[in-house]
Amino acid sequence: MGEIISGKQIAAQIKLKVQARAQAFEQKTGRKIGLAVVRAGSDPASAIYVRNKVKACEECNIASYSYILDDNVSQDELVTLVNKLNADDKIDGILVQLPLPKHIDERIVLSAISPNKDADGFHVVNAGKLFLGESSGVIACTPRGIIELIKSTGEDICGKHAVVIGRSNIVGKPVAALLLENNATVTVCHSKTQHLKEITKTADILVVAVGKRHFVTADMVKRGAIVIDVGMNRDESGLYGDVDFENVKSVAGYITPVPGGVGPMTVAMLLLNTVDGARA
Ligand code: GUN
Repeated sequence: MGEIISGKQIAAQIKLKVQARAQAFEQKTGRKIGLAVVRAGSDPASAIYVRNKVKACEECNIASYSYILDDNVSQDELVTLVNKLNADDKIDGILVQLPLPKHIDERIVLSAISPNKDADGFHVVNAGKLFLGESSGVIACTPRGIIELIKSTGEDICGKHAVVIGRSNIVGKPVAALLLENNATVTVCHSKTQHLKEITKTADILVVAVGKRHFVTADMVKRGAIVIDVGMNRDESGLYGDVDFENVKSVAGYITPVPGGVGPMTVAMLLLNTVDGARA
């Protein structure tokens, strides 16, 4: 029976650290650390994520400034807002919640964020630094959280076979780069991958970021593997990961639940990126 990795508990510890740093910052500078949260459109899941992020700021003595924009906001308006936030001294971090409405080119908006205020680590400069192994950049929140969850098991990442399912810019690609940085042997699988199960069966570490409920079943998992479930699949009956948790947990060595696994870590890492950015 696998051990359950509580992202909720680990995130709570990180938030205590963030809170202490944010308080020290305020004492030293006379102002609170500020995070701008930008959301456009009516995606219900994004609304929930943004609400959680704002609430977490409150808990950690970080001032949040929300900008909730209409579905039909123009790309120029978004870029203008980002430029204004770049120049605003009370804003230390900027977060633009994805996905943006379809008529907007996300890359243009993300590239407008000053790399120093890029709390999400999505700017090309920060993504590039991650891939070059340069530690001065901002690391994307979910990938950074995933590495913390893996390390919390006490198992060594070095030399292990890590399989990532999913190749998105916000999870799959950066988590693969971070695992490589930690000396894992990394395989990235995606929708065109052949013989997926044969590959996942050899994973010591399996990171699943597909967006399909119960995509990974027990027969795809090696006994004792560390399984990290990045899925957030909502329907009327609740929130589900990409992994068939009930059956996989008896095969895996360690497994993250949904909810209470990766999700809280993403929020905690966003706060950590924001305080670290402000202090720098
Ligand atoms: N959409 C899904 N995950 C994320 C995230 O970590 N940050 C932002 N900004 N948008 C997201």
